[in-house]
Amino acid sequence: MKLKSLLILVCFGGLIAWGASCKHEPDGLVNNPPGNNPPPTGGEQPCSADTVYFQNQILPLLISSCAKSNCHDAATRQDGIELTSYATIMATGDVRPGNPNGSDLYEVLNETDPSKIMPRPPSTPLTAAEKQLIFRWIQQGAKNNACNDCDSSQFTFSATIQPLVNSNCRGCHNPNFQSAGLDLSTYNNIRSIALNGKFMGTITHAAGFPAMPRGAAKLSDCRIAQVRKWIEAGAPNN
Ligand code: HEC
Repeated sequence: MKLKSLLILVCFGGLIAWGASCKHEPDGLVNNPPGNNPPPTGGEQPCSADTVYFQNQILPLLISSCAKSNCHDAATRQDGIELTSYATIMATGDVRPGNPNGSDLYEVLNETDPSKIMPRPPSTPLTAAEKQLIFRWIQQGAKNNACNDCDSSQFTFSATIQPLVNSNCRGCHNPNFQSAGLDLSTYNNIRSIALNGKFMGTITHAAGFPAMPRGAAKLSDCRIAQVRKWIEAGAPNN
């Protein structure tokens, strides 16, 4: 008897709580409409080696590996999946914060079936290090976080320019997938777009150049300054 009334009490209490939360729902929806893109947090803070940052490490990788035309860019949205921003990535339902092995976004990277693996051939699979990054980001809660990892006084090819091209450009400009016939996986090819003006023209969104990285936010002023200084120094292989 006692247990029964306790159960009724709990259920009834639950109903009241549910009713109360329903009443607040319209407010909540107004304040946080579906698809709202929460601004990233922490963009001014220095990066910590223990944390994976969505804006710095994950978004550029997903855009250049997955958000190509005919794939998961805003125009194509293959299978209804658009991988161009935090909001569209989370809206797929394929990221379960804290649970990388239960997240399709991570699972498809490891498929062995060529008709299921992402990115699809002829694109090459992500490297083990890139997969690990996505795994850790989801494990750490799949947050929309950012950090300040740019120092405009640093601009060597090996430490700055090549990593920048790798994470922001190479997914669409590699030997297997050469957008505009351009492979940016070698020093010589990066040097030639540096010297013919196309590197600066595309990343500063100058008139007469297609805006790069295509479909993504403009690179930060600090990154653009690094590229400009490296080119002004003669685009050395240093
Ligand atoms: C999501 C795919 C994608 C990414 C990422 C991307 N590009 Fe492109 N790029 C293209 C496509 C597609 C074209 C062909 C022009 C167009 O359709 O916009 C192109 C064209 C170019 C061209 C040729 C412009 C010309 O007039 O000949 C340059 C140079 C270029 N990209 C540089 C870059 C650089 C540098 C980055 C990284 C900062 C980058 N791209 C990132 C897809 C991409």
